[in-house]
Amino acid sequence: MRKPIIAGNWKMYKTLSEATDFIKALKPLVADVHDTGIVICAPYPVLKDIADEAADSNIEIGAENLFWEDEGAFTGEVSGPMLLAVGCRYVIIGHSERRQYFGETDETVNKKLFAAIKHTLLPIICVGETLEQREKNETFKVIEKQIKDGTKGLGAGDWGKVVIAYEPVWAIGTGKTATPEQAQEVHAYIRKLLPKDIANDIRILYGGSVKPDNIKELMAKPDIDGGLVGGASLKVDSFVKLIKH
Ligand code: 13P
Repeated sequence: MRKPIIAGNWKMYKTLSEATDFIKALKPLVADVHDTGIVICAPYPVLKDIADEAADSNIEIGAENLFWEDEGAFTGEVSGPMLLAVGCRYVIIGHSERRQYFGETDETVNKKLFAAIKHTLLPIICVGETLEQREKNETFKVIEKQIKDGTKGLGAGDWGKVVIAYEPVWAIGTGKTATPEQAQEVHAYIRKLLPKDIANDIRILYGGSVKPDNIKELMAKPDIDGGLVGGASLKVDSFVKLIKH
């Protein structure tokens, strides 16, 4: 049985007080949730405080990115050991916004994946096609390359630590969700690309305009194991609705 995960990706939202207020408000509302993993991925400046706030709860904290070196002259970057030291458990790798605006490639995703695993952070690897690629019928080809190149060289023993997020770029922040059938089709395809002995244990989250009113039908699909949620994770009430769908 794969335990579902509802993960918020706050992107570049929330100051320190907004972030800690959110966790304070969320904690009692989800204290009774045991069957779903709850993760908040947040900007670097708030990670330590929200991890401290969430320490005695069932809420886990993640970063939205990391650099692959442990330390060094890399101005502006943040490393695995730094994230671990402030209480992070997860880290998002290769989000489409990082690929689109910050030049991330499957090669950098691969390096970051190894850095995360080396430091016992659980990676959430993002893949997804653009609208143009979907319209050209390239979805499966694009996803296959992102998965194969992004996870190249990953040892059998480390696959169990990986979470994958399928986020069609055309569905992110657009209000245009993939239909549950479209998402399921790609999730099943991704699962077929994973090592056979562990494929059924790996969580594959869907991301792209996940909202309280569409979560139920998405989660009903056999290969959808949760959501990676942007906009609807920014308000406590909608995030709780997603967790308790
Ligand atoms: P939205 O839920 O705002 O579409 O964002 C999805 C996303 O990019 C999560 O990583």
